[in-house]
Amino acid sequence: MTFETQDLMPSDEGLAQAATLLRAGGLVAMPTETVYGLAGDASNSVAVARIFAAKARPTFNPLIAHVTGLKMAETLAVFDDRARAVAAAFWPGALTLVLPLRPDAGLSPLVTAGLPTVAIRCPAHPVAQALLLAFGGPLAAPSANPSGRVSPTRADHVRQGLAGRIDAVLDSGACAVGIESTILGLDGAPTLLRPGGIPVEALEAMLGPIAIGGDAHKPNAPGQLASHYAPEAGVRLGVTVPMPDEVWVGFGPGCAGAALSLSPVGDLVEAAAALFQTLREADMLAGPGGRIAFAPVPETGLGRAINDRLRRAAAPRPPVQP
Ligand code: TXA
Ligand code: MG
Repeated sequence: MTFETQDLMPSDEGLAQAATLLRAGGLVAMPTETVYGLAGDASNSVAVARIFAAKARPTFNPLIAHVTGLKMAETLAVFDDRARAVAAAFWPGALTLVLPLRPDAGLSPLVTAGLPTVAIRCPAHPVAQALLLAFGGPLAAPSANPSGRVSPTRADHVRQGLAGRIDAVLDSGACAVGIESTILGLDGAPTLLRPGGIPVEALEAMLGPIAIGGDAHKPNAPGQLASHYAPEAGVRLGVTVPMPDEVWVGFGPGCAGAALSLSPVGDLVEAAAALFQTLREADMLAGPGGRIAFAPVPETGLGRAINDRLRRAAAPRPPVQP
């Protein structure tokens, strides 16, 4: 089924329209500080099923429930003192917590893909907060891209991937962080399930050493499949001397001659914000069957999340489903 995707401005009127669509089981792409999310009523299985269908996302891959704050979060999951302290320190912000699901949470079981845990995030973006407030309950929201493709950091990216499959896009310009939230498992010993917008070093300063969980073969966060963020072009990493036919994407001042750069001065915050837009631009420059080569990015702070996304962009692709 295809239908018209409305463009909504983040005005009072646009937000009210978006909330009305959500209450009717519709899907609205909303800006967050990390990436655009595809929001639907987390308590409505029809709406949540539509999210999976619009993205062509495998239904074993659970979604993040977005909340206005700790109060709403505590209706969904069991928080102990440690989880409350982490939420107090990092929410609103680019941190998702995986916690034991409350039996009376009222979430569609599709959100958690039947797991006994739930992933919860309180976004800092004022438009996401305003939409959650207007809607008045938790919103399930994966990144607003077709499954396996590059995540959207601008409303145009959402339209390119999902126009005709969703009800509306709330346009609020480019996302400031540019890379998805860090996912921290707190249902047992603290476990890093996905590096993201909050550096793991910041979490370790509070919690002590954090185990790295999940890998491509036995993912803890089921979305962490090897190939993801795939552009059309082939991707090679850690390249200091590109081949003549490669679109070279630099990082830092040592990359004279690069066609594009994640950050000419070598700033990881700037590089994270630019990552997905740059991946799209490089893909267009490379053209069909082309190749992209990325300069090395240091494996520290936000660099861990950037390298994680780049490794997935470069991973062998699964065969296309018929
Ligand atoms: O920044 C973000 O987190 C963005 C914005 C829109 O909030 N959202 C996002 O959602 O990146 P998505 O669906 O693209 O990624 C969610 C990840 C998936 O890898 C999924 O497997 C994992 O969270 N996840 C969800 N529930 C989980 C659970 N109960 N246990 C472990 N991993 C879970
Ligand atoms: Mg995603």
